[in-house]
Amino acid sequence: MRMYDIIEKKRNGKELTKEEIKFFIDGYTEDAIPDYQISALLMAIYFQDMTDDERANLTTAMVESGDQIDLSAIEGIKVDKHSTGGVGDTTTLILAPLVASVGVPLAKMSGRGLGHTGGTIDKLESVPGFHVEISNDEFIKLVNKNKVAVIGQSGNLTPADKKLYSLRDVTATVNSIPLIASSIMSKKIASGADGIVLDVKTGAGAFMKDLTDAKELAHAMVSIGNQVGRNTMAVISDMSQPLGFAIGNALEVKEAIDTLQGKGPDDLTELCLTLGSQMVVVAKKAESLKDAKELLEANLKNGEAFNKFKQFLESQGGDASVADNPELLPQAAYQIELPAKTSGKVSTIIADELGTAAMMLGAGRATKDSEIDLSVGIVLHKKIGDSVTEGEALLTIHSNRETVEEVKEKLYQSIAITQGNVNAPSLIYDTIT
Ligand code: URA
Ligand code: CA
Repeated sequence: MRMYDIIEKKRNGKELTKEEIKFFIDGYTEDAIPDYQISALLMAIYFQDMTDDERANLTTAMVESGDQIDLSAIEGIKVDKHSTGGVGDTTTLILAPLVASVGVPLAKMSGRGLGHTGGTIDKLESVPGFHVEISNDEFIKLVNKNKVAVIGQSGNLTPADKKLYSLRDVTATVNSIPLIASSIMSKKIASGADGIVLDVKTGAGAFMKDLTDAKELAHAMVSIGNQVGRNTMAVISDMSQPLGFAIGNALEVKEAIDTLQGKGPDDLTELCLTLGSQMVVVAKKAESLKDAKELLEANLKNGEAFNKFKQFLESQGGDASVADNPELLPQAAYQIELPAKTSGKVSTIIADELGTAAMMLGAGRATKDSEIDLSVGIVLHKKIGDSVTEGEALLTIHSNRETVEEVKEKLYQSIAITQGNVNAPSLIYDTIT
């Protein structure tokens, strides 16, 4: 087999065989095929697209390029959830104990965050004592016992994706549906879940700014998952403004605690119930999404989800009393309100700019090795469509610096108030089952 022929075939719009796809993925992973030939192929894929079979074969070849996590020692159908990335996205902290409380095993491998705010692990580490440095055996034991555990990422998962992603980044081929879908799905499949629920974000703060593209990506990922034998569903949700009110690690943990007690923000609660219902159905713990949602709503009301959260924290060394006393979480020294400059209705809250503002306060990592401040961030008091009067607080900045003029400036530039009428954006645009 020759790389030249594979490039020419795709350039001419023909379908690549499973063997041809495996040949270039293995060859590239082993450094046997040079960057320039893979670059040409990526550009051909960008213009010619891939069939459903090609997409599934590409995903499988990437999964097989490295280690695969074996979760077979865990009883039941393991379901994982993936979000294409949001600002202040606290859903995993809520979903993990919520679905575990109805018996869905959640074996979560998670990473630390880069940019915006921390990742799930950073957020959980704002609970004193909580740690994810547990052995694989301990991890499996905990999931079988409690139905939920979180472990740090380990192993050499999908090395082909790492190399391809870096190359796509410098060859203007990131934005291709078959390449994005296979990249995301290969990582989820290598992590060992039997079923996958995807939260595809759309709007100004998302990777997919436009709803049509988000729908296309969601369908592509669901189709790959189902083709390779992993039951997959998706939700397309709004990221034109941050989800919930809190952005920042400990602040988001507090928001998760509120939500698990049934008093969280409406949008965050609704999204968790929607994603959670899909997870429950994928795990075959309910027949329909409606039945699943009723199970989850009941456990938010009766305290089961909240108790599961405490058990989960305690099992991994965390101080579970923070759930009853969130003031034990790290607190910033200064709480500074941002007053509205005019009266009217909030019309824009640019999600990723607020994420950047939280990062300027120290809530996120600018580089892989930066330290993050778990206590800082932003708590919104107004969302799109809300009325505000001049001088009223739009949000509170939680900071360990007394002066935050540059952060305030950024926030004023990212929030618009208008005199006209504004409707709150929809939260969920579509569900794909
Ligand atoms: N996120 C990924 O993991 N891969 C892509 O290709 C794009 C976004
Ligand atoms: Ca939030």
